[in-house]
Amino acid sequence: MKAIVHTEYGSPEVLHLQEVPKPIPKDNEVLIKIHATTVNRNDCGFRKPEYPFIIRPINGLFKPKRKILGTELAGEIESIGKNVKTLKPGDKVFGLSAWKFGAHAEYISVPEDGSISFMPTNISYNEAAAICDGAYLALNNLRKINFKKIKSILINGASGSIGSSAVQLAKYYGTSITGLCNTKNLELIKSLGADFVIDYTKEDFTKNGQHYDVVFDAVGKSSFFKCKKILNSGGTYFSTELGYLSQNIFLALFTRLFNGKKVLFPIPKDRKEDIVFFKELIEAGKYRAVVDRVYPMNQFVEATKYVETGMKTGSVVISIDHT
Ligand SMILES: NC(=O)c1ccc[n+]([C@@H]2O[C@H](COP(=O)([O-])OP(=O)(O)OC[C@H]3O[C@@H](n4cnc5c(N)ncnc54)[C@H](OP(=O)(O)O)[C@@H]3O)[C@@H](O)[C@H]2O)c1
Repeated sequence: MKAIVHTEYGSPEVLHLQEVPKPIPKDNEVLIKIHATTVNRNDCGFRKPEYPFIIRPINGLFKPKRKILGTELAGEIESIGKNVKTLKPGDKVFGLSAWKFGAHAEYISVPEDGSISFMPTNISYNEAAAICDGAYLALNNLRKINFKKIKSILINGASGSIGSSAVQLAKYYGTSITGLCNTKNLELIKSLGADFVIDYTKEDFTKNGQHYDVVFDAVGKSSFFKCKKILNSGGTYFSTELGYLSQNIFLALFTRLFNGKKVLFPIPKDRKEDIVFFKELIEAGKYRAVVDRVYPMNQFVEATKYVETGMKTGSVVISIDHT
């Protein structure tokens, strides 16, 4: 089968389209013929690597252990292991291979109880591939919030993969949402459910006199120290980035010792039931994929370079045509 392989850390040019053996599903696994995957910031973070002191101990000090990246997938089950009960050949599925990766390929083997579910009936493979990474990372933070107790949330980077998911999920949970984005994305963010939008190219959100119960920096461009003054008493700050000198980890540990404003930095955890939840939201018309660009597999390096501009809107999809 064809896959995007890298055998060394480095720039997008270390990624090569090549032939590799097709995986054989174990007894508890299903073999999925992948029709669409994505290039996301996690893939790029592991390939560079972005935080070498974290990634190299996990993924190989000198050479990457995970040679095929890719966390998101949508496709069709081709075969199943002998113990698999709930899925069968021909089923359309979507989901995540969050820590094992391997979705930048024509096929992947995934455990039956892994983070996959039947695909929503009302979307395409390209849209289904673009759902899960941003949504599970957003949900990972939002599920720490008691939405019955808060009245407002500010989401920075509201047009990114995690941010556009956070806007839609916060809307579902029910609170007043202020989304921060570039001029070109203001209408998109409103259409996803933001009650108020701020154009960060024209206005400093920390200086307009507004206050929030939660600030969720989905793109890691602010800091707790910058946002503390716009948090209401007892408010919470989340960021998807570790921050300067990994400060958000230390602040999460330190601020929990006191009663005041807090930093939370939950470790991402993917779960099958969350993928099922996303499927139900999509079928109910309460959630949609935001797809920026679609590339074929042979333009993978170009797709990666675009993701690494840090300016994509939603997700960048790789469509796999199996010819
Ligand atoms: N914690 C984790 O486990 C984890 C996992 C994966 C990724 N991450 C991190 O999470 C962050 C977001 O990931 P993602 O995939 O959602 O990113 P993304 O899709 O690449 O985000 C791109 C968006 O960021 C916005 N943006 C760029 N500069 C901005 C600024 N100065 N202020 C506000 N918005 C700005 C852009 O919006 P406009 O076009 O509207 O300007 C663009 O839409 C990344 O920093 C990534 O490294 C964390």
